[in-house]
Amino acid sequence: MVKLIGKKKIKTAVFISGRGSNLKSLIKFSKKSKSPILVNLVVSDNKKAKGLRYAKQNSINFFIINYSNKNSAEKKIKNLIKINHINLICLAGFMRILSKKFIKSFKGNILNIHPSLLPKYKGLNTHKRVIENKEKYSGCTVHLVNSKIDSGKIILQKKIKILIKDNEKKLSNKILNLEHGLYPRAIKKLFSNY
Ligand code: GRF
Repeated sequence: MVKLIGKKKIKTAVFISGRGSNLKSLIKFSKKSKSPILVNLVVSDNKKAKGLRYAKQNSINFFIINYSNKNSAEKKIKNLIKINHINLICLAGFMRILSKKFIKSFKGNILNIHPSLLPKYKGLNTHKRVIENKEKYSGCTVHLVNSKIDSGKIILQKKIKILIKDNEKKLSNKILNLEHGLYPRAIKKLFSNY
């Protein structure tokens, strides 16, 4: 994991593909004096990602990466990471799977947020599957990224009870709200010595 030198904030890149509500919450968090991170790079694989507006509004460097060739896309990202001195990557709705090689080169320093109580419901359409299976609880998880999807070490989870009136949409909204608090808390926990 990243070693903190003095009290300098950890330079962080957030990777998005769409709406970017977690990016928004991470930027807000990173502006607090007690936050160990500073979001100073946003990477998107989608030029139409709505979340890019938060980078623009906050004058944060952002880059759109063409993913038609994964290898060269990752090379470009690696270069961005290097020239911007990034020490932490936060995936926030990034819809690409990073290669083993990429993850290895950044070992221990990539976080992801997933809208389920991992290790249950890895992958996509979590809320739909949770409702279909009549689960009593769901939630969200922040975890370290390893080479298996949604499988790295869990940093923090938030659990909620599913109500009878909850459908996929309602559950998804509720959990998304929880995610916005959970991601900053997980980062604080990870860097609790800060
Ligand atoms: C969130 O539900 C996150 O857990 C999942 O993708 C969604 C991204 O939402 N990985 P947003 O783009 O941050 O609004």
